[in-house]
Amino acid sequence: MKLFDVYPLNNIAITSAKGSYVWDADGVQYLDMYGGHAVISIGHTHPHWVDRIENQLEKIAFYSNSVIIPIQKQLAETLGRISGKEAYQLFLCNSGAEANENALKLASFVNGRKKIISFSKSFHGRTSLAVAATDNPSIIAPVNETDNVIFLPFNDETALKACFAKHGNEISSVIIEGIQGVGGINIANNSFLQLIRQLCDDNGSVYIADSVQCGYGRSGQFFSHDFAGVNADIYTMAKGMGNGFPVAGILIAPQIQPKYGMLGTTFGGNQLACAAALAVLEVIENEKLIENAKENGEYLINKLKAITVLKNVRGRGLMIGFDVPEELKELKKKLLFDFKVFTGEAKPNVIRLLPSLALTKRQIDDFLDSLEEAIEELSSLQKAEVSDIKK
Ligand SMILES: Cc1ncc(COP(=O)(O)O)c(C=O)c1O
Repeated sequence: MKLFDVYPLNNIAITSAKGSYVWDADGVQYLDMYGGHAVISIGHTHPHWVDRIENQLEKIAFYSNSVIIPIQKQLAETLGRISGKEAYQLFLCNSGAEANENALKLASFVNGRKKIISFSKSFHGRTSLAVAATDNPSIIAPVNETDNVIFLPFNDETALKACFAKHGNEISSVIIEGIQGVGGINIANNSFLQLIRQLCDDNGSVYIADSVQCGYGRSGQFFSHDFAGVNADIYTMAKGMGNGFPVAGILIAPQIQPKYGMLGTTFGGNQLACAAALAVLEVIENEKLIENAKENGEYLINKLKAITVLKNVRGRGLMIGFDVPEELKELKKKLLFDFKVFTGEAKPNVIRLLPSLALTKRQIDDFLDSLEEAIEELSSLQKAEVSDIKK
């Protein structure tokens, strides 16, 4: 049987990993500045994470949500404490799209409305509602097309006010990433998030903070939406939550009342997933990884800003992007194949950095050395080509 060929792959097989490094089948080491789509939060194969999963596996891996699962409560308590959202309620599921799907659906159950506000360049996942709220028509199948989603320009307060003025009593929810990931590392303004909070309050709509990529400490705050100093009604989480173990969830504000059967899942909240998620939180707390993301992120951003050929360096904590000029368009590939560094991208010309939150200054310096050398080599090549043409 062949694999369904939907992913453009780099011709590299990664077979082992530790911390911020991965190794290919030939034993070649790579620095991982991408964390496999922002998933690696505490570092690859962290010993505490491995131990917790192994210990849990020997006891019980799975039983369905028809019995009490004590480790779910332990996870909810720890998550409430570390995120600072102790009064919120936790619903566990399996992926970022599923988290957003549940959040959008829950909002609609709560206020009985159908319209969703989403923003330009947003990405919320590939399930039916999540993809309908994603600003990329090429991944929306005809069956997912709906008039229920209104797209507005990101950070445009006038457009948001006008939309609420016109449709206020129809708006079920507003969904927004605190820092857009797939869209190219675009930070939501604090005043924009505050306005969403106010308009949702005034109109009975639900504010959904998509924290799938920008959450779990990556920005230097537990949720990047927290920079605005206002609470969302629902936070969605996935990626960094399990450090590679598939686990996701939504945090639900106390005023939202649950009802039996309202939401559900077979695998969500299984014992093994909870063990992985607890291990992640324990390491984040013990190793002060949110502080590390903040401090080392600032260090990296400042160093990148000093490389003048890179434009519009931006981000928070260890969620960083910069624009690459046309003459360096091979930079990402060069970093990977010649300098053995994984980075991410956002079309058409953004490099995204989403490393483990445990990334050290030493690793940052190594990355910067590789980056500067790669830029130097590409620029010399460019100059040589230009002088050849002139001859
Ligand atoms: C902000 C955001 N929301 C949702 C998703 C979907 O998550 P998943 O791929 O786990 O379904 C992603 C994935 O990249 C994301 O970046």
